Amino acid sequence: MTWLNRDVTEIGGQRLHPETLMMGYGYFPGLSEGAVKCPIFQTSTFVFRSAGEGKRFFELAYGLSEPAPQESIGLIYSRLNNPNLEILEGRLAIWDGAERALAFSSGMAAISTCLFATCRPGDAVIHSNPVYGGSDYLLDKVLPQFGIRTVAFDAGKGAQGLRDAVEAARETARVAAVYVETPANPTNGLVDLAACSAVADELGRRQGSRPLVIVDNTFLGPLWQRPLEHGCDIVVYSLTKYVGGHSDVVAGACVGSRQALEPVHLMRTILGTMTDPHTAWLLMRSLETLELRFRKSVDNATRVAGFLRGHPKVERVAFLGFLDPDSEEGRLYARQCLAPGATFSFFVKGGEREAFRVLDELQLVKLAVSLGGTESLASHPAAMTHSDIEPARRAALGITDNMIRVSIGIEHPDDLIADFRQALATI
Ligand SMILES: Cc1ncc(COP(=O)(O)O)c(C=O)c1O
Repeated sequence: MTWLNRDVTEIGGQRLHPETLMMGYGYFPGLSEGAVKCPIFQTSTFVFRSAGEGKRFFELAYGLSEPAPQESIGLIYSRLNNPNLEILEGRLAIWDGAERALAFSSGMAAISTCLFATCRPGDAVIHSNPVYGGSDYLLDKVLPQFGIRTVAFDAGKGAQGLRDAVEAARETARVAAVYVETPANPTNGLVDLAACSAVADELGRRQGSRPLVIVDNTFLGPLWQRPLEHGCDIVVYSLTKYVGGHSDVVAGACVGSRQALEPVHLMRTILGTMTDPHTAWLLMRSLETLELRFRKSVDNATRVAGFLRGHPKVERVAFLGFLDPDSEEGRLYARQCLAPGATFSFFVKGGEREAFRVLDELQLVKLAVSLGGTESLASHPAAMTHSDIEPARRAALGITDNMIRVSIGIEHPDDLIADFRQALATI
């Protein structure tokens, strides 16, 4: 019985699965009047039992002293720690098999805090291309203002681009990070994670400090892609998407080893980019159904993508399940991904006019950016999420005017297909 302070992670030799642990891991009813569900600790600060206790908590929180065996940092102030934040982080780490997780107020808060903790003026970051529009702005426009050079390579075009980017970064004193988004938003281009960690090892030998390999795993989530098992260091998420899953929270996470996350944690404390207790509570609710929701979304997406592929008004469907298994990318998909995910783009015959017409005619699928919710969404990356990228670079990345990105939810698949059928019939 987990009344006070014992987590059950194994029963009779059976290691409990993440979907089981999401119901209670890290929460002890005896500490909260027996409540089955963890209450929301909607408080900014915590009372110390004595001044000495407060002193000790701060010593540990600020790293001024090492914790004794079994000693942990007590609750101080909700920018530093809070029960909802801590329980959520314990549960997030389980999915990736990681030592630690940190929760943030958005995916961008996670990504920017992680990069600011990792890079210094004069450093370089090698990154895949395309990435989510906000990440692109951070890499292309914000980091250079802090004296950090960024060198891009294309996702979905094999390993040569990565090697070229390493060569281009050679003249910089130190490559601090290899930042990768795979599958890439919105093209679903793949990047070889094992190749990225091999490059980081090689750079580590050459420059004396190994760059961190940071992977945005928002599209496939910990269910379908496990970057830490491919030698990567930090996994970042927009929890707003599949983990939150109900289009009602904005949040993010960094997951990895204690050592890799320590500077990120410190930076989060100072920047104040953590998530709040209520959002953390909503995310715990969401984690209980993550596996159910995501599995159903992938089944639906496979059905919808199959319908679109055979449609005469559709030029191409960038669904990972359609990669040729004998192609380089198909082999990478088989090595690295466990399912095709449920967000993909398709290209209508025509241009912006035809794409906009389909988007405007959809009745069930909502016209909105974001992805990973229970409801299906459709958007136009060139005019919306990726409109900030200059047109020539956008076109080179394959983000064309006839591209529509969809995130398939958990509705009945026949209803979704009926909606796409009627909308496509209008062009
Ligand atoms: C792949 C990816 N990473 C990061 C983000 C940023 O997440 P957030 O909106 O939670 O800041 C997004 C948002 O769409 C995304 O698609």
